Amino acid sequence: MTDPRLAALAQALPELRLLTDAADLEHYGRDWTRRWTPAPLAIALPTSVEQVQAVVRWARAHAVAIVPSGGRTGLSGGAVAANGELVLSLERMNRVLGFDPIDRSLTVQAGIALEAVHNAAREHRLAYPVDFAARGSCSIGGNIATNAGGIRVIRYGNTREWVAGLKVVDGRGELLELGRGLVKNSSGYDLRHLMVASEGTLGIIVEATLRLTDPPPPTSVMLLALPDFAALMQVFASLRARLQLEAFEFFTDRALHHVTAHGGQNPFGETYPYYVVTEFAAGEAGEAAALAAFEHCVGEGWVLDGVISQSQAQAAQLWRLREGITESLAPYVPYKNDVSVRISVMPAFLAEVQALLTEGYPHFDVVWFGHIGDGNLHINVLKPVDMAQADFVAQCERVTRLLAEALQRHGGSISAEHGIGLVKKAYLGSTRTEAELALLRGIRGVLDPDGLLNPGKLFDR
Ligand code: FAD
Ligand code: MLT
Ligand code: ZN
Repeated sequence: MTDPRLAALAQALPELRLLTDAADLEHYGRDWTRRWTPAPLAIALPTSVEQVQAVVRWARAHAVAIVPSGGRTGLSGGAVAANGELVLSLERMNRVLGFDPIDRSLTVQAGIALEAVHNAAREHRLAYPVDFAARGSCSIGGNIATNAGGIRVIRYGNTREWVAGLKVVDGRGELLELGRGLVKNSSGYDLRHLMVASEGTLGIIVEATLRLTDPPPPTSVMLLALPDFAALMQVFASLRARLQLEAFEFFTDRALHHVTAHGGQNPFGETYPYYVVTEFAAGEAGEAAALAAFEHCVGEGWVLDGVISQSQAQAAQLWRLREGITESLAPYVPYKNDVSVRISVMPAFLAEVQALLTEGYPHFDVVWFGHIGDGNLHINVLKPVDMAQADFVAQCERVTRLLAEALQRHGGSISAEHGIGLVKKAYLGSTRTEAELALLRGIRGVLDPDGLLNPGKLFDR
């Protein structure tokens, strides 16, 4: 270790794994945004809470910033280390620590993958219901730090609902035990919830106790083809009234175009402007209700075509059309927007944003998809081949500014589920008032007085 700060760390914690090879710095210094050039000081891979505490104390003594790092599947730049920070990766803290059948809870280290949590819950005939396409790579710590949503929020809520307890090392190196798995606790402020969506700026989540639930009922998946945006919310209302919905997601023909170019199978003989993938409790009653809802929607002109899965393999194929979108767009490094409004506001908001984009930016390939049943839209813009990167980013930022203004008018949020990170920092004021922002900074100052935890993310110091 040639850097004296790292030499001091290696001497204080000889058992701590530290990486400084160029390939490791590159690998651990970026997330899925791919917009910043990674430039961390080093990567630390602790295996215990005590090691995490010791690293934080070292960071304070040497004024080194820390970037907490999970699976780096984040889409907002929260785990990017581009300024000589120490990346603190939780990937070696990935064990299940305990299961309690009475509490129906699972205690895990923060670096465990979401999919491993699903599997552990299933082994006990229970379910951890937060789910999305990055399940194999993202970590529970990252999910909590971003309050991840996903494809089942409509039925089960966001990650926040499932966090019963947390162990967190704050910016002073203190170990905080928050929530303790209690169902009821009215003993003052619930600091556990401060950590949810804190994006690594208040503390390093080292352990989590997660609530589990009953396994979902047997389900079927239906893919519907729609003529226009306006029909989306009509179909949603109609299906929600008749079915027990587990998911209600949408995407456009442009999204289908990219997914089928990556191996997805369009089950229809032709293409349509909009699609809905919905999963619902099956059985005879479910299937009959689904058919009735489908016929009603066709009769109203809201649905043009549809298929229902007849097997798990078919269900997975239909889901692939929705879940494969992010990966199919990744080579283009799309400019991503992840916005939300109240569900009731969605029709007016959709109409406004669609007009904004089609009238003002007809040259952009705009890929719309998302968790429409939660009021959450993903608007991805792809760079035209003949446009310079700088011009593209400048135009996209102008679009996001207009979006932020529309969100402010409609009472929405500039980040529904990905977090603010680096990419949406400039627009945070559209979602939070000055008074709120002052409180957020004040809270940060208490838990991380030296501003060492993920500085520059969420807001500037
Ligand atoms: P990272 O990217 O490593 O970090 C994210 C943030 O959390 C950073 O600010 C980081 O500093 C902080 N952090 C990480 N670990 C800790 C910790 N232990 N303590 C404190 N802070 C920490 N997101 C959704 O919400 N819904 C989706 O449907 C969805 N689908 C996705 C699909 C794909 C294909 C991909 C690539 C991403 C998707 N995402 C989705 C985004 C991403 O997977 C989530 O934001 C996820 O929660 C990030 O977890 P991670 O472990 O990869 O976190
Ligand atoms: C999704 O819903 O697929 C994710 O949030 C990922 C994305 O927005 O690309
Ligand atoms: Zn999403």
